Amino acid sequence: MRNNIVHPGADELTYEIREIVEVGNKIEKTGVKITWENIGDPIAKGQIVPRWMRQIIADTIMNDNSSFGYSPTKGLLATREYIARERNLEGGAQITPDDILFFNGLGDAISTVYNYLNKNARVIGPNPAYSTHSSAEAAHAGSPHLTYRLSPENNWYPDLDDLKSQLESHPEIAGILLVNPDNPTGMVYSQEIIAQLVGIARQNDLFVVSDEIYSNLFYGGAVHKKLASVIGKVPGIAMRGISKEFPWPGARCGWVEFYNRDKDPLFARYVKTIIDAKMLEVCATTLPQKVLPAVMGDARYYPYLAERNAAFWEKSQIAYSIFSQVPGLMTHKAFGAFYMTVLFKGSVLRPGQFLRPANKAAGEIIAPLTPGSNLDKCFVYHLLASRGICVVPLSSGFNSDLQGFRITLLEAELAGFKNTMQAIADAAKEFLGSQ
Ligand SMILES: Cc1ncc(COP(=O)(O)O)c(C=O)c1O
Repeated sequence: MRNNIVHPGADELTYEIREIVEVGNKIEKTGVKITWENIGDPIAKGQIVPRWMRQIIADTIMNDNSSFGYSPTKGLLATREYIARERNLEGGAQITPDDILFFNGLGDAISTVYNYLNKNARVIGPNPAYSTHSSAEAAHAGSPHLTYRLSPENNWYPDLDDLKSQLESHPEIAGILLVNPDNPTGMVYSQEIIAQLVGIARQNDLFVVSDEIYSNLFYGGAVHKKLASVIGKVPGIAMRGISKEFPWPGARCGWVEFYNRDKDPLFARYVKTIIDAKMLEVCATTLPQKVLPAVMGDARYYPYLAERNAAFWEKSQIAYSIFSQVPGLMTHKAFGAFYMTVLFKGSVLRPGQFLRPANKAAGEIIAPLTPGSNLDKCFVYHLLASRGICVVPLSSGFNSDLQGFRITLLEAELAGFKNTMQAIADAAKEFLGSQ
């Protein structure tokens, strides 16, 4: 090639949650049955979309030919009107349909939001981090993602002192990201914590991004507060979608809400760039937007979510009781989304720890991968080759300096869920005691 055609951020584009699947697929070919605990797809894990919801979608397809067409760039007006009305009823920041922009899934929104941010302006995000944010933000700047700590010793809440000190050392930071409820920790932040974070943004003249894709999935007494309810006059972007809620991840439908565009001309210009970029792409998927008001406005919607939330809470407590009995591990109950993070304490992980593989070929697949890997990743590979369970390491999967792994609460069948959690806990005990 006579010119370098490689993007400066190319090395930042990693997504361990799916990359580990390649290793799992190879191990599966050796005859090991794999339990996929790595990906947050409720459908893949057996969640059944209720019939009433399917009926709404089927009726729309059969009766409304326009559901096959393009939609306006920002999204269908009736759907944006519905979302704006719902948001405004909550009494926080007031928005109009004009402040809403639809995307082909939140993944698309995330990459667009960072891609069109000035290359020298950074958005600081949590550590551990959902990697679509951390990788996309790092790729836009061509250098590693900047992070503030979530403290496992304090319920995974943001370490606001760390955030303040990062802001002092990095004047290039223009925005703060929070994911609430959080992936991968399953934590839900109180109104007070969000307000403190917004206060820090206000004092430092920053904007706030809040990923709220799990905003209706919370339980165990937690109450989720949206960014809109505490943002005040600070510029902000909230991100929502239907992948986890309906759940309909294959619809590729998410949207962003812009708050306080009128309060800051630079923020307004940045938002216009994002909208203009979407215009070049024409629009987002139409059918899911068409059905959104009918599904979310249906009297069965919130009772259905309440049922799912109760099941997540039950599994959160089961997983907690299993993992908290293993010396060397630390875990927290999840209160939202459908993930939990299990940490390896202090220096319990050491090079050379191992699990006997299920067969020789599986052992040979992971043998060249483990040297030089982070120690939590070694555990994850050994777990895969030995027990056929695929989880995601915290270090490389969630851009973290902590060692641990993420499990999901998605397994539909309770006995199967308990067995898998127990098998992971037993494997961790054996791994830690193997040296
Ligand atoms: C925090 C978070 N944001 C965004 C997404 C992406 O969602 P979508 O399916 O809408 O692209 C996910 C998916 O796992 C997620 O966990």
